[in-house]
Amino acid sequence: MPERSITPLIVIALLLGTILALRSLNSPPSETSVPVLPAAVLVPDMVPLVTGNEPIAEIFTKAGCAVCHIVPGIPGADGRVGPPLLLATTGPARLADPAYRGHAKTVHDYVIESVIEPGLFVVPGYPSGTMPTWYGAKLSALALEKISSYLERQGAAAVQ
Ligand code: HEC
Repeated sequence: MPERSITPLIVIALLLGTILALRSLNSPPSETSVPVLPAAVLVPDMVPLVTGNEPIAEIFTKAGCAVCHIVPGIPGADGRVGPPLLLATTGPARLADPAYRGHAKTVHDYVIESVIEPGLFVVPGYPSGTMPTWYGAKLSALALEKISSYLERQGAAAVQ
């Protein structure tokens, strides 16, 4: 192949390399590739007020957590958008993470904080800005309490 026809190929290869490098700079550090659900999929209007008087499984499904999370013991809660909710195992590691900037001192409080202010700490490998930020207006204090009490008892051993 004459040298002239190779040059455009090299230019294209360089351009592609630059584009790919820039794209990887923009994406969060992740070991796994996580499907990103468009934020518009779950809008506040789709979620009724959760009073906390519902059975525990209903709390998780009514609030929509089940769409994005695996929750041990909750039928149908097999979402893969967010991390599996195994806070008995993962909670202490989150609190000890040098990148943790939240205010919780216990796993119980970390769960409540994660639901009300998800932006405070984004679990590495998962998309930021995806967990809804309006749960404070949809979950009663009792519902939050029940969610946290349930989740802080679920560990990795539960999903084998
Ligand atoms: C639209 C998808 C989506 C919905 C709905 C959703 N979450 Fe999440 N959640 C995420 C994603 C993504 C993350 C990880 C990124 C982050 O930390 O914000 C996350 C993180 C969390 C964490 C931190 C987990 C950890 O391992 O540290 C908790 C706790 C949590 N969610 C609980 C809930 C609960 C409870 C509900 C329902 C009331 C819920 N989420 C609804 C997407 C969602």
